[in-house]
Amino acid sequence: MTSSSLLLRPFSGTDSEFFATLASDERVVRFIGYGKPWNQQDIDACIVSALQHDDLNQVGASRWFVASMAGQAVGVVFSTRQENSIEIGYWVSPAHWGRGVGGTMLDQTLVMVPELFGLTTLSAGVAPGNTISAKLLTKRGFTLTVHTDQLDHYVLSPQSN
Ligand SMILES: CC(C)(COP(=O)(O)OP(=O)(O)OC[C@H]1O[C@@H](n2cnc3c(N)ncnc32)[C@H](O)[C@@H]1OP(=O)(O)O)[C@@H](O)C(=O)NCCC(=O)NCCS
Repeated sequence: MTSSSLLLRPFSGTDSEFFATLASDERVVRFIGYGKPWNQQDIDACIVSALQHDDLNQVGASRWFVASMAGQAVGVVFSTRQENSIEIGYWVSPAHWGRGVGGTMLDQTLVMVPELFGLTTLSAGVAPGNTISAKLLTKRGFTLTVHTDQLDHYVLSPQSN
């Protein structure tokens, strides 16, 4: 794929079904949260909170994006202000895995999120078994700062952006 064929656009209410499809797919959530498909109640609560569009300076404020190729949704990017960083997350529809979609989404996220929230440290929490996600991050300069059995914490500081 070429990077220009993938577009990141703001998540809207009409993308709810796409998000729900991903969140209820055991392959997608294998390394997310409790590693089990989400129930509809959790999906709905998460979407409501994402569409709230709190002030971007407020801790907890989040913005989601949909990655699309030729008008078809292929992934979702999450960004949330934490105390000391903007935490990012990314899910690709399994039908598109292994074709560079995740890498391209992340490349665009690393440009767009600092533009949106202001230049700041980016972070990502990755389950230790999620080697593909860890590779995506380290290839782009993220470093592992905290390791636990449940979650590895990666950061990318602004000067290495
Ligand atoms: C992690 C995820 C986003 C990767 O998306 P993707 O579109 O498959 O990623 P890419 O195709 O860009 O591949 C990323 C790297 O992993 C490698 N890779 C992809 N699939 C692989 C596989 N099955 N086995 C080994 N390597 C693989 C690619 O070769 C690439 O490495 P490279 O940059 O050296 O070429 C996707 O698997 C996903 O959505 N997983 C579920 C949600 C998730 O875990 N998100 C991350 C939360 S922290």
